[in-house]
Amino acid sequence: MVKKNEKELVVGLDIGTSKVVAIVGEINDNGEIEIIGVGSNPSVGLKRGAVVNIESTVQSIKKATKDAEIMAKCEIHSTFTGIAGSHIRSLNSHGIVAIQNKEVSYADIERVIDAAKAVAIPADQKLLHIIPQEYVVDNQEGIKEPIGMSGVRLESRVHMVSGSVSAAQNIIKCVRKCGLSVGNIILEQLASSHVVLTEDEKELGVCLVDIGGGTTDIAVFTEGSIRHTANIPIAGDQVTNDIAVAIRTPTKAAEEIKLRHGCALMNMANPGESIEVPSVNEKPSRNITKIDLAEVIEARYEELFRLVKIELRKSGFDEFIPAGIVLTGGGSKVSGAIDLGEAVFQMPVRLGTPKKIAGLSQVVNNPIYSTGVGLLLYGYEQKISGRSNDSLVKDAYSGIWVRMRNWFHNNF
Ligand SMILES: Nc1ncnc2c1ncn2[C@@H]1O[C@H](COP(=O)(O)OP(=O)(O)OP(=O)(O)O)[C@@H](O)[C@H]1O
Ligand SMILES: [Mg+2]
Repeated sequence: MVKKNEKELVVGLDIGTSKVVAIVGEINDNGEIEIIGVGSNPSVGLKRGAVVNIESTVQSIKKATKDAEIMAKCEIHSTFTGIAGSHIRSLNSHGIVAIQNKEVSYADIERVIDAAKAVAIPADQKLLHIIPQEYVVDNQEGIKEPIGMSGVRLESRVHMVSGSVSAAQNIIKCVRKCGLSVGNIILEQLASSHVVLTEDEKELGVCLVDIGGGTTDIAVFTEGSIRHTANIPIAGDQVTNDIAVAIRTPTKAAEEIKLRHGCALMNMANPGESIEVPSVNEKPSRNITKIDLAEVIEARYEELFRLVKIELRKSGFDEFIPAGIVLTGGGSKVSGAIDLGEAVFQMPVRLGTPKKIAGLSQVVNNPIYSTGVGLLLYGYEQKISGRSNDSLVKDAYSGIWVRMRNWFHNNF
């Protein structure tokens, strides 16, 4: 947290494979957050979501935070940071305890979450999140806030997320080397879904698909709770690489061509239009049609969507997401992605941008910033409700704390 004119500020730091972005939010008198600064810098020290070069990552973080500081006219000291990559594991677990004094108390919740946590996690993995989905008191299912309820037997159902200890340490090391502290490390798709998905979608059943540069991160919600998280090691970088190989052009040129002329649906590309493509060697540049380009892009996006579909089927949630798919992340910006998605998934698909927050429109209307905004908001909400990865069990108290805070806001 940082201070500016006595106003509290909060910072989300998304260390992505394509870019590092720092987003500064200011908390107004009503407790709402407004985005007042953003700094973004290309990232070269990550591969598939994980840090592989400390020094380059440090440089990118320094530049991004500096730019955000200049824009927000503040000094950044602490950040909420994301974590992603193929090392992330997630599972659903449950615990059962006897209610001690016939009425569910904080202590009972603490014990029942501990019971759910008691599953073997490999020594090289660190528990990142334990998110309560619901409680069961005696045989009454679907309880979100059990405190005060009468009964003899309390059961918790939770979603647990763990990640490689060294991957988490590398992120913390990079941030600390920039002279900043890490307020919390948050799973990236958990952060983006927090600001992109509506409560109705989560209640009905929905799948968030965050297509980044190095990885595509998935989060499934049903009945208001997170049920499944996964990641697929195919994203925008592969699309760029395919273009470079298929039309024999340098990667940098392929990326520019994708951003300017890319389309993920051949049917939508204009057959009459052609694009000038630089060659890899001294040879003169050539022309290709937009249809040729779309053919390459469509093939990779179709593969990616099919892999997401397979992941959904494997998880058993493919039949439970009537609200469909929400695409976000930079890769979701290519034209035709929504239509191609609807054809592959055979369900509604929409583009997700950061919501629930005011401020700079370049940030709040752009799917590239979903994770950064989500880190800021999710991290802040966890902090004020007394939850953090250091005190995971306090997740269970969230409802009470949020209600207490709102009561204070409304009454004083
Ligand atoms: N308009 C666009 N059309 C097509 N692709 C785009 C567009 N804008 C951005 N991208 C692609 O999105 C990707 C970057 O997305 P994003 O910024 O969400 O990634 P990241 O968060 O840095 O990576 P990751 O989440 O995988 O670590 C790049 O591959 C980029 O080419
Ligand atoms: Mg990302």
